[in-house]
Parts: sequence; C-alpha cells; structure tokens
Amino acid sequence: MISIEFHTADGERLQCTAHEGTSVMEIAVAHNVPGIDADCGGACACATCHVHVDPEGMARLPPRGDQELKMLAFAVGVDDGSRLSCQLPVSAAYQGVVFRVPASQY
Ligand code: FES
Repeated sequence: MISIEFHTADGERLQCTAHEGTSVMEIAVAHNVPGIDADCGGACACATCHVHVDPEGMARLPPRGDQELKMLAFAVGVDDGSRLSCQLPVSAAYQGVVFRVPASQY
C-alpha cells in the first residue's frame, strides 16, 4: 500500500492509503476529501479534481499531458504545482506526496 496525504484549505490533513494504479482523484473521492468533486469521473473534462503539489512532489509525478494542460486552463488559481488528480495513477514514487486542495473548490 502507498500512503499519500491531502491538505484541505481549512487546514485538515487526511492521510490515505491506496493501491498502485488507482488515481489520486479516486483516492480522494473514496476518502471523502472535501473539494474534489470529480464531476467528469476522471475523463479529464472538468478540472474539479484540481490539486496543488509542492516542487519536491512534482518531481515525483509524471509530466502533464496535453489534455491535462488544456483542462487546467479552465481551473482557478493555477500555478506551477497544479495538477488534475484524475490524471495521476499512483505509483510507489508517490509515497508521502502531499496534495493540497485549492480553497476555490469549496
Ligand atoms: S475528474 Fe474531471 S478533470 Fe479530473
């Protein structure tokens, strides 16, 4: 099992475990992480699974794909650490990575 952490905008910290291959979005939904609505179900068509990742974490994630970049253009508060969590299938490299939920998603 791989452990990742979600930080909500109001300071809550949620430690979650996941099987390899499960998307970060699916983990968030399964653990009722507030602010991750995932309206399109992971089809990379809504940007309601937007999260922020610090530079150290970003170095452990795969690069953004073209569709992810297009959808991020519709998200609020996008920065260098922005990711769509449905596009992040968990691997062992994700162990300990923190995903912060933007305040704009509440
Ligand atoms: S769940 Fe819709 S873009 Fe990620």
